[in-house]
Amino acid sequence: MKVLITGGAGFLGSHLADAFLERGDEVFILDRGPTLKIRHLLGHHALHFVHDSLFNETILDGLIARVDLVYHLAAVVGVEHYVGDPHEVLNVNINGTQNVLRLAFRHGKRLVFSSTSEVYGRNPRIPWREEDDRILGSTATDRWCYSTSKAVGEHFCFAFAKMGLPVTVLRYFNVYGPRLDAIDIGRVVTILLGQALRDRPLTVIGDGRQTRCFTYVSDAILATVAAGLSPQAVGGTFNVGTDEEVSIRTLAERIIAISGSRSEIQNVRQEDVYGSSYEDIPRRVPDIRRMRVILGVAPKVSLDEGLGRTIAFFRGEARSG
Ligand SMILES: NC(=O)c1ccc[n+]([C@@H]2O[C@H](COP(=O)([O-])OP(=O)(O)OC[C@H]3O[C@@H](n4cnc5c(N)ncnc54)[C@H](O)[C@@H]3O)[C@@H](O)[C@H]2O)c1
Repeated sequence: MKVLITGGAGFLGSHLADAFLERGDEVFILDRGPTLKIRHLLGHHALHFVHDSLFNETILDGLIARVDLVYHLAAVVGVEHYVGDPHEVLNVNINGTQNVLRLAFRHGKRLVFSSTSEVYGRNPRIPWREEDDRILGSTATDRWCYSTSKAVGEHFCFAFAKMGLPVTVLRYFNVYGPRLDAIDIGRVVTILLGQALRDRPLTVIGDGRQTRCFTYVSDAILATVAAGLSPQAVGGTFNVGTDEEVSIRTLAERIIAISGSRSEIQNVRQEDVYGSSYEDIPRRVPDIRRMRVILGVAPKVSLDEGLGRTIAFFRGEARSG
């Protein structure tokens, strides 16, 4: 089978490429970013890497025409972008997604779209089922542009599905693991990890009581592969995550304990980190029954185990350069 992964040089995409190559499939990656996360794959006979953008429609059209299955993962991700460059977030995540959907529709190719737990916004009714409401803040607050961009992507998926495109929507919940962003930057796990490995204070935003369900990457990838292969997944929307809810303070404590760091926790004001364009989500917990029943995937890796593997990976990276 031939599989295209847009954004395949990113964190999730690189692990998804590993999984399909291990199955013996042929993998095409389209990504405009650096190749660090797929450097171990670059010589692989069944891997074709195209260093280009979703906005090069000729290249995108040629790739989609060649494959059997399209995973659309390319996106602008990360709080620093939501508040720092909302135009880029909206442009890539909405207009780029439209390009992929339009061409998949033209060629009649099955597509899996990577959406996010952010679409639920700050809906206070936990756990979130896939049909639950989106509750968002004002458009004057830039942080909502990412949630909105992914929700528009989903609407386009559903619109193309109505016209006959076989499409599946996945909403990931805080996936982490080796190759996530880079130490010190990006998402909360890598930021706290960087501080712990340097024995610096772990900066927890607010009182640290806000919660997340951190999903180890191998669990997320099992669900992602199933979403592209299982006939029952066509037309479906799935939360992809774990229901092990932890506070950010607990996350920081576990990182300190598992890494053996001498760091302490320091609470910082949200405005001092992200300015006034950010608003935190108090709790984020998925209902994962659909993932378990239809995709046949149950999360296996506990937070401690996943953090242990992630810390080992980033220690190795730090040593190698
Ligand atoms: N990791 C998570 O916890 C998480 C949570 C929710 C949703 N998601 C979604 O999963 C997908 C993958 O996320 P990730 O964590 O791997 O992020 P990532 O930033 O590591 O990967 C995204 C990749 O997309 C590429 N890209 C961006 N714009 C592009 C363009 N115009 N053309 C080609 N490539 C482009 C980037 O270079 C990058 O390699 C994203 O769509 C994201 O919204 C991830």
